[in-house]
Amino acid sequence: MSEMKKVAVIGGTGLIGSKAVKLLQEAGHEAVAASSRNGINAYTGEGLIEALAGADAVIDVSNMMSFDRQALVDFFSTSSRNLTSAGKAAGVRHHVVLSIVNADQIEANPYMAGKLAQEDAVALSGQAYTIVRATQFHEFIETLVGAYAADRVVNVPDIDFQPIAADDVAAALVEAAVGEPKNATVDLAGPERATLESFIRAYLGSKSDARPVAADAAVDYFGAPVVAGSLVPGGDYIKGRVTVAEWLKA
Ligand SMILES: NC(=O)c1ccc[n+]([C@@H]2O[C@H](COP(=O)([O-])OP(=O)(O)OC[C@H]3O[C@@H](n4cnc5c(N)ncnc54)[C@H](OP(=O)(O)O)[C@@H]3O)[C@@H](O)[C@H]2O)c1
Repeated sequence: MSEMKKVAVIGGTGLIGSKAVKLLQEAGHEAVAASSRNGINAYTGEGLIEALAGADAVIDVSNMMSFDRQALVDFFSTSSRNLTSAGKAAGVRHHVVLSIVNADQIEANPYMAGKLAQEDAVALSGQAYTIVRATQFHEFIETLVGAYAADRVVNVPDIDFQPIAADDVAAALVEAAVGEPKNATVDLAGPERATLESFIRAYLGSKSDARPVAADAAVDYFGAPVVAGSLVPGGDYIKGRVTVAEWLKA
């Protein structure tokens, strides 16, 4: 086992955060599961000094759901500035943050604008960091179905997709956090690249939902024009292991 580390997981009660906390503990590290309901608030700064005391690394997987661009930019940039400055004061050596592949290419999407502001705040903080940009999670396919389904048909953007299992994301974050800071961005994607349409069809098929699925060039991606290739890595990336079929089966 590598040297035992203490890692504060901001958003440690969420989908990815709870998995990261479990993996850290299973590997013999000490994990702090930080979230606002536990009195540790990245946005207001409440409880950060105590949560980060003695930590070697921070994994930031906190989240805010909104369609308001300004609110998202404010949440992600303010939280990152608070976390990195509290981290520096506490002697934290490495700030790891989870972002989204090609966050800089879909800025018309308000959520991506928030994630880009988060990345910028971390990169400019002076704190040693690794930005892990993941593709959409397998779990996000259900959100996409909800967003694009009509009564009788599901029309989705005509775009390539390469989703990754939350388990693989958590494992990559833990590996990054116990390793050395890269002071750079790394991409992370699932094992299969295909059209979004085909993944939606597989998901609906597993639920015995017979609605037809079609790729439609006129359908946008959450309010932003579809940019070809913008949901998949353009260069090297870390590849997750769990396929959508395996995840659906589990
Ligand atoms: N969904 C995708 O496909 C996808 C793809 C790539 C990257 N990501 C990124 O993955 C990250 C994690 O997503 P997730 O699905 O695991 O999120 P999630 O399940 O919604 O969990 C969010 C966590 O953040 C905490 N939180 C919210 N506001 C906070 C604050 N002010 N201070 C401290 N903690 C706070 C929440 O707990 P409390 O409510 O107690 O505060 C919760 O523990 C997000 O940053 C997202 O951008 C998502």
